Amino acid sequence: MYPFREGSFAVRNGWYVAAFRNELGRDLLARTVLNQPVVLYRKEDGEAVAVGGRCPHRHFPLGKSCLTGDTIVCGYHGIAFGADGKCVDIPSQDVVPHAYKIPTYPLVEHGLWAWIWMGDADKADVALLPDLEEIGVTATGMTARPFYVQEVQGRYQLLNDNLLDLSHLAFLHASSIGTVENARAPEELVKRPGFLSCRRYIRNAEAPAVMAASGRYAGKIDRVTGMDFYLPGFHAGIGDMAYPQNHPEHAGETIVTSRVYHAVTPATPHSCIYFFAMASEDVEGMDFMFDYLRPVLEEDKFATEEIEKMLAIVGENPDELLIKTDRNAVEGRRMLQAMMDAERSAAAAPA
Ligand code: FES
Ligand SMILES: [Fe+2]
Repeated sequence: MYPFREGSFAVRNGWYVAAFRNELGRDLLARTVLNQPVVLYRKEDGEAVAVGGRCPHRHFPLGKSCLTGDTIVCGYHGIAFGADGKCVDIPSQDVVPHAYKIPTYPLVEHGLWAWIWMGDADKADVALLPDLEEIGVTATGMTARPFYVQEVQGRYQLLNDNLLDLSHLAFLHASSIGTVENARAPEELVKRPGFLSCRRYIRNAEAPAVMAASGRYAGKIDRVTGMDFYLPGFHAGIGDMAYPQNHPEHAGETIVTSRVYHAVTPATPHSCIYFFAMASEDVEGMDFMFDYLRPVLEEDKFATEEIEKMLAIVGENPDELLIKTDRNAVEGRRMLQAMMDAERSAAAAPA
């Protein structure tokens, strides 16, 4: 499916964010991940678990059922499943056949997030998770905080494309976090297996509107923007602002350092879940940013959903006009396609 080859939906063997850790508790949380219904909850001992969200009896959503102890009791006819997926009770009969069970999925709490592995469980390697120091979550002086969870009615790759091409800041977010330099400044790319990074170094340029709105500084700035894509579904962004080199008193001094985290999790072929979080040295400033950035993220949701609607009209293979700033997004698509192709070849290979 667009923008991938026909028959390619999403990478299966990879960590995706299923929830922020602070969303998980003793209430059942239903999510759809890689076109599978999933239920997340904490056991009585606090351990977070993920199991299949469809009752195998008549397909009632287990996320809309009850949790008793560590057992989900289906809200339709009362069949019960433990956290290990095994059926433990069928109220209408004495015998519980051994084969009755629901799937379970590896779930790891790491940083602000609970990461799920929907592919082959024996390949779920925590070493593949982003390094928390590298992305700034545990860096000295930084405080990280979850911001928003959005269900987006658009395919996940539209959001990945968005995050891999930050020139859109200059237009989609012109009234808040972008200036024309976000499109004009040259982009530097770094690629390694499972990782793609871009940076723009903007010098002595107008500050984006957020700087004046937050009361920080309204003069010209030096700015570093960029995004690190940890495939298949996590982006760690950098937004550093400093006084320009010709500033009479503070030349080169940092004004603000922040990190933003975008997790994009495929839900259905035409929808995804979008998790946004932030880290900053300025804890009080984060309250301002929480309110300020909400409409900015809505703009990305809007663009994604409008493009999804357009694809429903024009079909899955529209001609595309590619331009210079697409280089990073095209590379990201290639890398994801290669991962999907490798999974398909491995599945087709004789055992
Ligand atoms: S649908 Fe779940 S017990 Fe019948
Ligand atoms: Fe955006």
